[in-house]
Amino acid sequence: MQKEKIIIANWKMQLSLQETIDLANKYKAKFAKFKKGEVAICPNFISLLPVKTVLKGSNIKLGAQDVFWEEKGAYTGEVSPNMLKEAGCEFVIVGHSERRKHLRENYEYINRKVKTIIDSGNITPIICIGESWDERKTDRRDFVLTEQLQLALAGVDFMGDQQIIIAYEPIWAIGSGAAIESSEAEYAHKIIKLTLSQMFGMKIISGHFRIVYGGSISSKNVKEFADLENIDGLLVGGASLNAEEFYKVANVIIK
Ligand code: PGA
Repeated sequence: MQKEKIIIANWKMQLSLQETIDLANKYKAKFAKFKKGEVAICPNFISLLPVKTVLKGSNIKLGAQDVFWEEKGAYTGEVSPNMLKEAGCEFVIVGHSERRKHLRENYEYINRKVKTIIDSGNITPIICIGESWDERKTDRRDFVLTEQLQLALAGVDFMGDQQIIIAYEPIWAIGSGAAIESSEAEYAHKIIKLTLSQMFGMKIISGHFRIVYGGSISSKNVKEFADLENIDGLLVGGASLNAEEFYKVANVIIK
């Protein structure tokens, strides 16, 4: 079954509040007639509410870049799934490798976050997995991907029509300017699918999961990723900071 494709912009911590609002406005204008698939943008926390206002009346959806694993309490600096929902988010990125690297986020934290998001029942988590260069060089990629999925999704039960997006992002390709070979991405996505089918069964996969690729995607290389059977979309960093460039990428990946 062909799933609806999705393209997600991850603006990371690249833009000021005003720059974020300006870019959101450019996206809104650019995507005014774009009615295919799903398009989502993930700005920083403080920009969520103003961006929600900008996006009113457009098809572009809103996502956050992180979330905490409790709904409420004495957790200085944190934001809960329901708060994100209140701010208009339909998606949230969980366990991005930059958080794993700089904030020592691990798959135990990621698992707690995923479970809380699913319990809140409102938001689609975009769970990031991917091997390091060292893991790839030493032929451990398949094992790493399987282990990350098992840890991130341990104890997750599916209720209703809860959706989950797995973002395969080889760490060494992120921000490098060079995406991996599309055949390699397709292979990794097959491994991910196989692991998910062992964990949850094929029916759950086709109804609840999409698998997207992330890592140095641009209008120059996106064509290679467009027709692959197991790639349901993209998570885009650098190329999403320019509305025209992101629009070109979106038009190739979502037909
Ligand atoms: P990139 O980032 O497209 O700049 O490589 C992707 C990501 O980190 O999600």
